Amino acid sequence: MSEKIYGIDMGTNAIKIYQKGAGVILHQKNMIAVVNKKDPLALGDEAHSMYEKAPKNIQVKKPIINGVIADFTAMQMMIQMYFKSAYGKKLAEGLSAGGNSEFLIAVPTDVTEVEKRAFYDLIASSTLKTKKIRLVEKPIADALGAGLDVMDATGRLIVNIGADTTEISLISLGGIVQSRLLKIGGTRFDEAIQQAVKKKHNLVIGMKSAERLKMQLASGIKEEEEKTFDVMGRNLITGLPNRVTVTNHLIYEAMAESMSSIIDSIKFILEKTPPELSMDIMHDGICMTGGSTKIKNLDLLIQQETGLSIMKMDEPELTVVKGLGMIMENPQYERLANSLQESTFH
Ligand SMILES: Nc1ncnc2c1ncn2[C@@H]1O[C@H](COP(=O)(O)OP(=O)(O)OP(=O)(O)O)[C@@H](O)[C@H]1O
Ligand SMILES: [Mg+2]
Repeated sequence: MSEKIYGIDMGTNAIKIYQKGAGVILHQKNMIAVVNKKDPLALGDEAHSMYEKAPKNIQVKKPIINGVIADFTAMQMMIQMYFKSAYGKKLAEGLSAGGNSEFLIAVPTDVTEVEKRAFYDLIASSTLKTKKIRLVEKPIADALGAGLDVMDATGRLIVNIGADTTEISLISLGGIVQSRLLKIGGTRFDEAIQQAVKKKHNLVIGMKSAERLKMQLASGIKEEEEKTFDVMGRNLITGLPNRVTVTNHLIYEAMAESMSSIIDSIKFILEKTPPELSMDIMHDGICMTGGSTKIKNLDLLIQQETGLSIMKMDEPELTVVKGLGMIMENPQYERLANSLQESTFH
């Protein structure tokens, strides 16, 4: 049987899978819909299409919250289904785990050992037959996938703004000098937008509508020119469906506080950076990854606030999983992946 190697980034919003030799083979919403509390009904993007629309007997779950596994059973069920069933085949050709399969799993750095271990156990205790499971620190994979040389003695600052989290990490010599995981990201922006629309327009909107407003109108810097986008929701007073026109200024105000928390944390890490590494960062600037860095002018805001240059990615959601790919494709990065059996847990 031919050996298959997979890299998995289980994000709060999306799951991404890389297969050795094939590249990124899956990028879907990290959601599962179950009926009667246990029977799987839909996975990924299909489950997301049911979110906020399902009747009571159908639950749409997000197994990862704040970057860690919140619903172990649901996450394991998803992984097993992706790899084993006809379902998996439909979503991505090639997904199958025989006795020879190896897994590289990206895990956040600034979480507890128990939370890290759960990512290992998820695969180890599943019905998938595996030869080896290794964990990779997310910021290292992220930096590799962003094209940074992580192995040399140069300080690199990487900021991944995802869905539930922002991970700010300082890397040098293939290791993490420091890393901070904030519970702020795209979801927090969406919630703030939901609240602002409710307060200003007496309109209750769903999270998907809030996200749509963000994608249309959000900006890291306050824009002079007014832009608008229409949104549907339920009027708080009449209880009836209603449509309102939302401005980019309302969206900016709603998101400002969360954006400045992210800036404060970046500054905090910069203040704690050893001077020799600071010099490197002054020279190379900050690398921004994660889906939320698609927000217009967010790079400009961070640049203005820190005085550092910003490097942006074309596919910022995929840097972590592409970095896992680089580790499995290039033997010189071998030492960046840890096998738990050989390391601290045993
Ligand atoms: N064009 C866009 N404008 C603003 N936000 C966007 C855009 N495209 C995607 N996003 C946001 O990016 C987030 C998803 O990014 P990503 O896939 O990096 O998150 P994740 O890895 O699942 O989450 P985490 O790393 O926090 O666990 C979502 O919150 C989504 O709303
Ligand atoms: Mg992520």
